[in-house]
Amino acid sequence: MNAIEQLLNHPDVRTTPLSDGLKIRNPATGDTLAYVRTTSVPQLNHIIAKAQTAQTEWAAKSALERADILWCWYRLMKENKENLARLMTMEQGKSLAESLGEIDYAAGFIRWFAEEARRIDGDILTSLKPTQKLMVIKQPVGVTAAITPWNFPAAMITRKAAPALAAGCAIIVKPASQTPLSAYAQAVLAYRAGIPQDLFAVVNGKAADISNTFTQNPIIRKISFTGSTEVGIQIFRNSAEHIKKLSLELGGNAPLLVFDDADLDKAVEGTMLSKFRNSGQTCVCTNRVYVQAGVYNEFCRRLAVQAGRLKLGNGLDKGVQQGPLIDADAVAKVEAYIADALEKGAQCLTGGRRSPLGGTFFEPTVLSGATADMLLAREEIFGPLCPVFKFESEAEAVAQANRTEAGLAAYLFTRDTARQWRVAEALEYGMVGINTGIISNEVAPFGGIKMSGLGREGSKYGINEYLELKYLCLDIG
Ligand code: SIN
Repeated sequence: MNAIEQLLNHPDVRTTPLSDGLKIRNPATGDTLAYVRTTSVPQLNHIIAKAQTAQTEWAAKSALERADILWCWYRLMKENKENLARLMTMEQGKSLAESLGEIDYAAGFIRWFAEEARRIDGDILTSLKPTQKLMVIKQPVGVTAAITPWNFPAAMITRKAAPALAAGCAIIVKPASQTPLSAYAQAVLAYRAGIPQDLFAVVNGKAADISNTFTQNPIIRKISFTGSTEVGIQIFRNSAEHIKKLSLELGGNAPLLVFDDADLDKAVEGTMLSKFRNSGQTCVCTNRVYVQAGVYNEFCRRLAVQAGRLKLGNGLDKGVQQGPLIDADAVAKVEAYIADALEKGAQCLTGGRRSPLGGTFFEPTVLSGATADMLLAREEIFGPLCPVFKFESEAEAVAQANRTEAGLAAYLFTRDTARQWRVAEALEYGMVGINTGIISNEVAPFGGIKMSGLGREGSKYGINEYLELKYLCLDIG
């Protein structure tokens, strides 16, 4: 067995076809990588019942013991970084450099929450009566469920599983059907680290059946979902009957504002990183770039040069910076946005078409002359297409940036300190990058406002999503 096969040594992963299984393909080559067993609804209910027993035992362990096991999982992730990254590139398509970065990012959540496990502290409150002691303790919410996307096949799992396990919860993860192999590989390492199999289960199958079981089974006390706003609304609605705790990390429509006084090199570099990370397939990717009139032409020129230099190819090949898009629908969507924008007056500065590499490769594209009536101004592009809008005043830029129901991430580039504060506070978003296009890390609270979701992941706040407060009133009179 080679190192990657060892990572996939899970009973639900096969190299031979399964009658009711999922076929997992490499989006860069079309090759079949593996087959994955699907879980029926009765099987899932059984897994949930077993998780309940496992959770009680896990919660009874000391915080130190849980932390030590998470540390061990973290170390195994780091030791297996290269193979986890290769596996991710094979099933998701992103460049190996990005996959290596994602494994570090994913492992970072495990380390962070191993540390946080030891700081789930309660409170003693100042009592109204001398005979009463008022206390607050924090307890795990119980059995939890996660539904994770294909764009970050490792980090979106650890960002949910690590705080859940640190808090003393069980977690059942449903990864995206395009990228379940990274989820199984992480589970294999978690089991090696000492995390019980019933406590951290990975399941696959029909998304609607699994999601409905999560919302309908009363044992599941919390669901954490990363994905589209449409599905998030469905989960929110379906969770009402059992009043489940929810974390929803939904779609974005991130604006990036470049003012006349910005350091243009920095602004172009930040836009490149924010827009073309993962080939434009992240929720926090810049969707709309607004540039002040004085630097508009120069910014567009420099951005187009940089985007045109990005090297496309199989993410495993040396020097490749952009992999394929996840599937044919993603390509069709980007093409439709470009066609609509060109029809409404945009100019294509670079890219604009499918790559000669074929498959789902698409050329990194920059459009100038973008306007508010274009579809790409309202919808999340989720691809390597960067539209650039022109603005005159700060007030106009802020108004345009906020003209969306989404509220996940926003970015601005300016050297003026007063403007940095003023605009950052005026932007209606959960996260704002100032003079940077990369904001995600385990220390910071990730999450959005408005239609972009509920709750925060990572950071000192993230563990609270897996804890309940209990108030104790002790009368000693
Ligand atoms: C996402 O796109 O869902 C997550 C992006 C990130 O963690 O930076």
